[in-house]
Parts: sequence; structure tokens; C-alpha cells
Amino acid sequence: MTDVPLVLADGIVRRDALRGQTLLQSTTFALHAGDRVAITGPSGSGKSVFLRSLALLDPLDAGRILWHGAAVERAAIPRYRRNVAYIRQRPALLDGSVEDNLRYPFELRSYRDSRFERARAASLAAQAGRAADFLDKRASELSGGEAQITALIRVLQLAPEVLLLDEPTASLDPESSRAIEGLVHAWFDADPGRHASMWVSHDPAQAARMSERHLTMRAGVLDEAAQAASAHQEAGQ
Ligand SMILES: Nc1ncnc2c1ncn2[C@@H]1O[C@H](COP(=O)(O)OP(=O)(O)O)[C@@H](O)[C@H]1O
Ligand SMILES: [Mg+2]
Repeated sequence: MTDVPLVLADGIVRRDALRGQTLLQSTTFALHAGDRVAITGPSGSGKSVFLRSLALLDPLDAGRILWHGAAVERAAIPRYRRNVAYIRQRPALLDGSVEDNLRYPFELRSYRDSRFERARAASLAAQAGRAADFLDKRASELSGGEAQITALIRVLQLAPEVLLLDEPTASLDPESSRAIEGLVHAWFDADPGRHASMWVSHDPAQAARMSERHLTMRAGVLDEAAQAASAHQEAGQ
């Protein structure tokens, strides 16, 4: 097994151009296949800014992101975002049915090599405890939990390598939160040699359930105090 990280943030910085404030201090961080990371920290400390930077959703002010050891060129960003997927707290769904939402990515250019598979989508919905008619529901009539389940299935059916989960269950009922955790667990366990996750949570119990590596963010500074020393020792040491 190689020790090249799936994703390496190499001195990345984010600033608020308007106010000249640094939102994310220079951060170097490696995410390896098999890592399950939790991030906690006060509200406004930069957790979302960091995750969105890792996902290449917002422009970096310094540093770079390496994916499998190589810088992500502009033309490769759609492919990167497909593999390093960001899940936001409040999912954005289109009008139409759940199935319309799940079909939508396959209309985009970067997903042209794959096709929507209804059976697979239905099986993910069943895993999340949804009834057989879930795919036919109107997106506008979903509960918050069902909307988040839909958003997660939309990403999972595209077989990402990395999930960046930004407080995905923060405003959900316990049953939906468990369904989201279950989907992420099942996805991770399907291929731990290829997958890694980062989960921002304000719930320490959830962070413990969903990770072995714990980071904290404070005023734009990422800290990895609690990383297990054995997690990524070089072979033979
Ligand atoms: N695009 C942006 N432009 C300017 N300031 C931002 C932007 N995004 C976030 N911020 C600010 O950066 C700080 C960290 O925000 P955020 O990462 O959302 O915190 P949290 O840890 O709660 O996720 C906050 O002060 C927020 O107002
Ligand atoms: Mg946030």
C-alpha cells in the first residue's frame, strides 16, 4: 500500500477579501484512504471554510490541493468534486420527484460515463429505512431528514472516494440522523482501502461514532491533538 494521501491540503489559506480577515490560517493536512476524521470547534471557527476549501468549492488564497499526489488542474476540478464530495447542512434539491433529483447528476457532462440505476438508488433508500415509493415523492414534500437522505444518495450513487460532511444531521430528528450515519458507514465499509470521510459535528458522541481521528478548529487554526500515533506509521518502523 502506498502512503500517498488521497487528498493533501498543502499550506492552504482562505481570506475574506472585503475585510482582509484570514478565515483559514495556513493549513497542511493529509487525508489517507481508510481515514475517518471528525472536526469539532466553535461556531464560526472556520470548519465550513476548511471543508469547502478541501472540496475546491471556493478559491484558495494560497497553497494547493493535491489529489493522489498531483495538483488538481482546472480542467480536473469537476472530476475531483465528483470524487471528493461535499455534503452541506441544508441540502439544495430541485423541484420534481426524488428520482428526478437522483437522475440530475447524470445529465451533467462530468457524469456522462455513468448511468442512473433505479435499483441501486432504491436499495440505498431502503438502507435508509425509506419505503418503496420514496423515489416517487415530491422533493418539496420531504422532511428535512428525507431531503438530506436524498442529497446523500445522490452523492453515494456516484461512488465518491471521499465524503466531506458538514454538519449533515445538525437539524435532523434522531431517526434521520441514524439513517445518514448508517448510509455513510455502509459506504465506508464497502471499500475502506479507497474511502475516507471527514465529518463536522457539534455532537461529541456522533464524532466518536463516525471517526478515529479527531481534529479541532479554533479561530481558523486546525489542530490535530488527538491523532492516534499508530494511525499512519510508515511500514517497517
Ligand atoms: N465566503 C465568505 N466570505 C467571507 N467570510 C466568510 C465566508 N465564509 C465564511 N466566512 C466567515 O468565516 C468564519 C468561519 O465561518 P465558517 O467556516 O462557516 O464557520 P463554522 O466553523 O461555523 O463552519 C465566519 O466568521 C464566517 O462569517
Ligand atoms: Mg459550518
